[in-house]
Amino acid sequence: MTVAAERMLLTGGSGRLGRELQRLLPGIAAPGRDELDVTRAETVVAALDRWRPEVVIHAAAYTDVAGAERNRAACWRVNVDGTRNVVSAAAGRGIFLLHLSTDYVFEGATGGYREDDPPGPPCNYYALTKLVAEALVRFAPRHLVVRTSFRPREWPYPQAFDDLFTSQDYVDVIAPEIALAASRCLEIPYNTLHVATERKSALELARRRRPDVQSASKKQASVRLPDDISLDTARWRQLKQRWSQP
Ligand SMILES: NC(=O)c1ccc[n+]([C@@H]2O[C@H](COP(=O)([O-])OP(=O)(O)OC[C@H]3O[C@@H](n4cnc5c(N)ncnc54)[C@H](OP(=O)(O)O)[C@@H]3O)[C@@H](O)[C@H]2O)c1
Repeated sequence: MTVAAERMLLTGGSGRLGRELQRLLPGIAAPGRDELDVTRAETVVAALDRWRPEVVIHAAAYTDVAGAERNRAACWRVNVDGTRNVVSAAAGRGIFLLHLSTDYVFEGATGGYREDDPPGPPCNYYALTKLVAEALVRFAPRHLVVRTSFRPREWPYPQAFDDLFTSQDYVDVIAPEIALAASRCLEIPYNTLHVATERKSALELARRRRPDVQSASKKQASVRLPDDISLDTARWRQLKQRWSQP
């Protein structure tokens, strides 16, 4: 039941996650935006007809959270209209759709969010578009929404918040998990899955790769940030345990 990388197509292959996935899944088709622009339905259709994948991993997105507030139309076009185009093309061809979503579909007040918890209210425009995108993906007969969160390989700031809790991790930790979920997606008996690591403060995460990072409070940030956006990952851990048994 494992899906070979050669039977998969990746959107957003030039992105932070996409580059890692291409390395982990050699042979995956990853047409660039010049061939597959998610905002142009005809290019999505043409790419799927050319590559004939069994599984589409939809990682293309407008991810600039601050930019999304200034340029809402562009964010909506990629994240909502683009996802609609991918859903329509995949559904019409019986292709399984693995859609990348975010912990930010939750409000971030209590943390420990489970897959079945009602999401929202979204705390910014990017989060709103990702939540609408999830709703569109539900119209694909064969789909899996993977909610996750990741940082670049190195912590990029001199400071990190000790009062913001998360289950995100570095992209080189998360990407192998996503690659595993993609390879086994046809065996996953859920339509939503949280793929992340354990709950921790942003400061703790930062110091794993940059021990001299200074502690800061999110009260100093210019934008409103969640208290605890951590995801419950019991489903994912149970699946991996089941697969590791002979
Ligand atoms: N970063 C995070 O912390 C995080 C957290 C949770 C979920 N996610 C989700 O994970 C996925 C990957 O995120 P990322 O951080 O790797 O993204 P990223 O580095 O910002 O890359 C975005 C990708 O989308 C592509 N793209 C944008 N507009 C497109 C269009 N119109 N047609 C085709 N491709 C287009 C970009 O292509 P170009 O190179 O041509 O611009 C790029 O490959 C996204 O769905 C994101 O929402 C990310």
